Amino acid sequence: MKLTFPNGFYWGAATSSYQVEGGIDNNDWAKAGREEKVPVAGESSDHYHRYEEDFDIAKNLGHNAHRFSIEWSRIEPEEGRFDEKEIEHYRDVLMALKERGLEPFITLWHFTLPLWFSESGGFERKDSPEIFARYCAFVVKELSSTCTHFSTINEPNVWATHGWIYGAWPPFKQVKMLWKKIGKDDGTSERTGATASFGNSFVYFKIERNLIIGHRRAYIEIKKVSPDTLVGVVKHVRFFEGNWNPFNKCLALFMQYLQTYKFMNAISGHYDEIGLNYYRHTKFGDRKNYLDTDMGWKVYPSGIYGAIMKLKRYKKPIFIAEAGVADDDDDIRAQYLVTQIRATHRAIEDGADVRAHMYWSLLDNFEWALGYSKRFGLVEIDYETKKRTVRPSAYEYKKICESNMLEL
Ligand code: BGC
Repeated sequence: MKLTFPNGFYWGAATSSYQVEGGIDNNDWAKAGREEKVPVAGESSDHYHRYEEDFDIAKNLGHNAHRFSIEWSRIEPEEGRFDEKEIEHYRDVLMALKERGLEPFITLWHFTLPLWFSESGGFERKDSPEIFARYCAFVVKELSSTCTHFSTINEPNVWATHGWIYGAWPPFKQVKMLWKKIGKDDGTSERTGATASFGNSFVYFKIERNLIIGHRRAYIEIKKVSPDTLVGVVKHVRFFEGNWNPFNKCLALFMQYLQTYKFMNAISGHYDEIGLNYYRHTKFGDRKNYLDTDMGWKVYPSGIYGAIMKLKRYKKPIFIAEAGVADDDDDIRAQYLVTQIRATHRAIEDGADVRAHMYWSLLDNFEWALGYSKRFGLVEIDYETKKRTVRPSAYEYKKICESNMLEL
């Protein structure tokens, strides 16, 4: 059986600045690393200097698209001061992609905040939406001659949950009662010194609100400087369902609302396309056993179908901005990809307007509070020598990318 994808479909992989670039020390994660609250990212894979080598690999792997993020702390190292040299760096990155026929998808902000911003309250600040929109519009103005797709925020709800509910990421605030009760606190709070209070759940909603307003402002400001830019947001969609039990079905609907629809509904009219990150699925009342990935997440790549269909209702083009698996031995990655891509094809057949599939990640990278222990890459990184080794699964993906087709 041959499953062909629409003409002009984009195939590629994704990265984000702090996870791969190396040498970033002016943001909230670097500070938390210095304070030993989270692992230190240090040089990472040194992608900042080796992007050409990495894009050569991507091209040789048959990719025709690439998603990456701009490091806000490089561009705006101090409030209101923009660094032209760093803009020049990202211009060079875009040129390198162009020369290799890779369509760029830029994320303007992927989890890390410049220190001046986080130290002064970050998205708790009342004026944070304007600050964020100013940064976004500045970058788009500078880079839109070589890039069409810009997303404002990566995974707003995941970011706010880790920072203000779990307390595992900066600024390490926690709704402790809740968190301890459901048995999720594995000692992270001791390490991070997370401050716990019930009130943090209200702060979480304030953050979510500021992110919504921030995105909407950014959309408006970006359109003023570059009307033709396609502006999106990258949304993590965990696919919730329930078994036969009506209570479980309602719970699934409620969770989907909280984690997906609420944000998307609130930014209505302020996006041209949607980025989808898919990793996880929860079926309430499910007693089946699943294999686990190296992240301890259930192996369920076909759930991407459900995630895509949740976004179909918004009637905008969808690009898979991230979906992938931590698999150190590369045992399951190839099959995982095939299943995920087959499910994506089914969603397209069922009317979803999916335009791109970008695997997470091109390179092994810094997995946030878990440091370098998890390996998502199509390309293995030796962090000592910086040597790149293409994993066998990447060649399986290459066949699909090059033929624009999945052959089963
Ligand atoms: C994030 C990535 C992360 C990946 C795997 C996504 O939620 O955008 O930064 O590495 O998941 O955990």
